[in-house]
Amino acid sequence: MTIIKGISALQENVNFLKNNGKTIGFVPTMGALHDGHISLITASKAENDITVCSIFVNPTQFNDPKDFEKYPITIEADIEKLELAGTNILFLPSVTEMYPDGFDKVPHYDLGVIETILEGKFRPGHFQGVCQIVHKLLKAVQPHNLYMGQKDYQQCMVINRLIQIENLGVKLHTRPTLREKDGLAMSSRNMRLNEEERKNALTIYRVLNYLKDHIEKESIAYLLDRSNLMLTDNNFRPDYVSIADAETLVPVENWDGHQKIVALIAAYQNEVRLIDNMALD
Ligand code: PAF
Repeated sequence: MTIIKGISALQENVNFLKNNGKTIGFVPTMGALHDGHISLITASKAENDITVCSIFVNPTQFNDPKDFEKYPITIEADIEKLELAGTNILFLPSVTEMYPDGFDKVPHYDLGVIETILEGKFRPGHFQGVCQIVHKLLKAVQPHNLYMGQKDYQQCMVINRLIQIENLGVKLHTRPTLREKDGLAMSSRNMRLNEEERKNALTIYRVLNYLKDHIEKESIAYLLDRSNLMLTDNNFRPDYVSIADAETLVPVENWDGHQKIVALIAAYQNEVRLIDNMALD
């Protein structure tokens, strides 16, 4: 695996490969890699000649400075995992490489309603920061295919919109959420949970399954009340529990039994904010 730290060196490398007819798959990450990330590398390897992964903890997408400070950094273990998975290029830029003019020049992306609901509502500015960095990374890597995880359901929708409005000519592949044996969605933030919090964390998965099992039997208002109770009984502070249209994320109040819907949860276990989602139909 080649490790590259500069944008121009990366572009030179990728241009050479593309001029030689190679297809490029790209997996952007913030490190603290787990099997969910590795499944994205595996998918990219199966569908492209060359797989590029980036590790960059992007300051502009953290609306909470404490969350940024505490974001787990495990770079040596990450490099080992990427080597083992057969990654071809690791792009490992510094903050000054990605933001040479500092953080003042902030572009604004017209993301529409998607930016004002759920994650957008509870993490103001988060998706603008995500678009800012993913746009820079895509311009640097120029991949044919982009791989992201379905755990960040709304993020995938936002990136699809970014690709459209900026005409980026890359295809987004959304891959299923990987779960621990007991069902907890894999997440870099799980590393921050203590034993007690880790046990409680499973409640999110239990609630999603409860919603899936009861969606045909109970009203949505009742299900949302029950879900919030289940979470608070297990020491969670929910930001939201939502049952929403799978394509727009607009909340659904009465389900007709046909519409494609998804349940989405964001909740704090003490300091650690976890998110997860599950298709209900
Ligand atoms: O999902 C993530 O890890 C980040 O939001 C991403 C896409 C790498 C951008 O920093």
